[in-house]
Amino acid sequence: MLNSNLKSLFIVLGVCSMAGSSWADADLYASYTDDSRKVAQEFMQQLAGTLKQQIESSGTESAISVCKEVAPALAKQYSNDSRLVSRVSLKPRNQTLGTPKADERLALQNFDRQQRDGTAGALELVTVYEDAGGEWHHYMRAIPTQPLCLQCHGKPEDISANVKALLAKEYPADQAVGYSPGEIRGAVSIRQKIR
Ligand code: HEC
Repeated sequence: MLNSNLKSLFIVLGVCSMAGSSWADADLYASYTDDSRKVAQEFMQQLAGTLKQQIESSGTESAISVCKEVAPALAKQYSNDSRLVSRVSLKPRNQTLGTPKADERLALQNFDRQQRDGTAGALELVTVYEDAGGEWHHYMRAIPTQPLCLQCHGKPEDISANVKALLAKEYPADQAVGYSPGEIRGAVSIRQKIR
């Protein structure tokens, strides 16, 4: 089952006391975590499925447009007035959408460390915080690099000349290459407004 594989780092309680929240809020936070976990899972599965299908039917070059169009569209589709879904990375390809905020950067650095230390299972982080806009539940889940990803995110020898040329044209500031299987490519980041 999903839960048994999850190596979660819950810092919710520490933040609760800071925010003056009560123990009763723990149930509320847990329901947000469940929701975000489900959304992240679905979002990643749908994206990977579309990507695989496109590569198989029309080749890697055409799949670049899938990543470019479908990924942001799906993120938007899973977002609503009180939920914001995005993908971030320490080495983003899309500098506008993929550059992490300070808290996301810290989480990604932690995920990298955990991956290097050989922590088993999916890597997640849950935090609750307050800002001028209200109280927020923030869920992050690491996205590992799979063999399929290497043809667009791998080392120079993994990426065809045509794909390299297309990527250079579409993403002149691309940093999202040089990955090996198992390394953390980025994370899904979901912020939900609690109140
Ligand atoms: C066909 C080429 C291609 C393949 C294969 C591919 N990607 Fe990407 N990836 C892209 C492109 C293009 C973008 C930029 C999308 C955008 O503009 O938002 C991207 C962006 C991302 C991002 C968002 C952060 C960033 O760097 O901008 C993540 C996370 C990501 N890819 C993970 C993966 C994973 C995991 C796999 C394998 C399951 C994968 N990608 C396979 C082309 C690819």
